[in-house]
Formats: sequence, C-alpha cells, structure tokens
Amino acid sequence: MSRTALIAGNWKLHKDHQEAIHLVSDLGLRLKQLELGAVEVAVHPPFTDLRTVQSIVEGDKLPISLGAQHVSHHEKGAFTGEVSVAMLAKLQTRYVLVGHSERRTLFAMDDATVQATAKAVIQAGMVAVICVGESAEEREAGQTNDVLSRQVLAALSGLPNNAADAIVLAYEPVWAIGSGAAATAEDAQLAANHLRGVVASVLGTASANEVRVLYGGSVQPGNTEELLRGEDVDGVLVGGASLDAATFSEIVAAAVRCYG
Ligand code: PGA
Repeated sequence: MSRTALIAGNWKLHKDHQEAIHLVSDLGLRLKQLELGAVEVAVHPPFTDLRTVQSIVEGDKLPISLGAQHVSHHEKGAFTGEVSVAMLAKLQTRYVLVGHSERRTLFAMDDATVQATAKAVIQAGMVAVICVGESAEEREAGQTNDVLSRQVLAALSGLPNNAADAIVLAYEPVWAIGSGAAATAEDAQLAANHLRGVVASVLGTASANEVRVLYGGSVQPGNTEELLRGEDVDGVLVGGASLDAATFSEIVAAAVRCYG
C-alpha cells in the first residue's frame, strides 16, 4: 500500500498532564521496540496535555505524532474557551480531529462548522482528520451512504484541490463508538470505499487514492487485523483502547503485521 497507515489514539476527556507523561513515555518505549515501517502512530490528548506530550515526544525522540481533538474555526478574538489553529500549530501539532460525532451530537457542531474548521486546520499547515459516520437509526433506514456523502461533501467544499495530503477521513459509525460492537470488516471496507469514491468526485481519482481512510469505533487488539484487511482501510482511530499503553501498542503491533 502506498498510503502510510495511521493508528491514532483519541484520549477524549481522560488523563491529566501527569498521567499523560506516564502514558506517552510508556507508549514510546513500547513503540521503539516495534519496527513501525509504514505505520504512523498519533495520539490526541486533551488540550492541557499537549505541551507536555510535545516536550516528551521531542525530547525522547518518540515515534509519535501529536494530535488534538478539536479546534476553533475562528482565527482569534472574543471566543471564550476556544483554542486556535495557530496555537496548535505552534506546538508542532500535526493532526486535528474535526467533526467527531461527540462534537457533532453533544456540542452541536454542524456540517458548515466542520467545513470551516477543516479549512482552518489545513491553512495552518496541519492535517484535518475529518470524522463521519451514520447513527443506528440512519443505518437501519438504509441511509448510511447518503449520510457519509453529505458529511464528506460538506467538509470538502471549498478546500483546495491539492488538499489530499492534508486530510484524513475517519469512518466512525456512531453506534460503534464506545459500544463494544465494532463494524464488521466488510462494512468498514464498504464505507471506506464509498468515502474514497466521494473524495474522487470532488478532488479527482489521484487525490482520492492518496487520502487515508481510517475506521473507528470499538477497535481492540483482537479486531484490528481483520478491520485493516479492507483495501480501502488505512488505519484505525481508537478511543478507549488507546488509554492503556500496552493495549494501544498491541493495536499498533497488529497494524505492523498488516503493513510493516
Ligand atoms: P472507541 O472510540 O474506540 O472507544 O469506540 C472511538 C472514537 O470515538 O474515536
């Protein structure tokens, strides 16, 4: 596969900066024992941990990319509680999750804000990990592909044509997140393939072949290899199982067996 696989850990609202020191140091030691080859590893800690994690990653030369979970689409100004893309870029943040379903459902992030945020992330020189996925009701109503198309088309509108290396798509069916019920490898591949087709319709086939598509939702060491077998699935976005260094590095090891 010419696309570099990405194994990303989304810590959500877990780990203060001291716990982050332990987790990322432990993870770094474990990753150094693996031949990562064509597998990239990223962590997305809470904002208060970013500076700490950045210092450890740089100081100890850990094979870990820094990610954030969210960012404002505003550049600066009177937006109490927000963090800007410039602030993240200054910390060598490489990836930013955009439109995670928890942001969409719990914090009313709509498609237009997802689009504006992705654009701001890319303009700041970082990579937008655009999260999309259908709810259980939408799946039951047979609307999965329609929902995915709508979400991706909205997110990509207004992005430059050469944005392929500045975006990653994460297919995260809402019903699979934190539920213990991951999508089947077949469903993950079907959705990833559909997403790549939507990207092709906007950015062209060559770009679509460059864009990495991840699967997320109840990923565990035991289901990683199967999920990664789909030819359009280029990695995983991991929530709960990324909070423990041993478990997360087992997921990375599974990816190394697939792509390394
Ligand atoms: P989970 O979360 O692995 O705990 O299901 C995935 C995510 O929300 O990114």
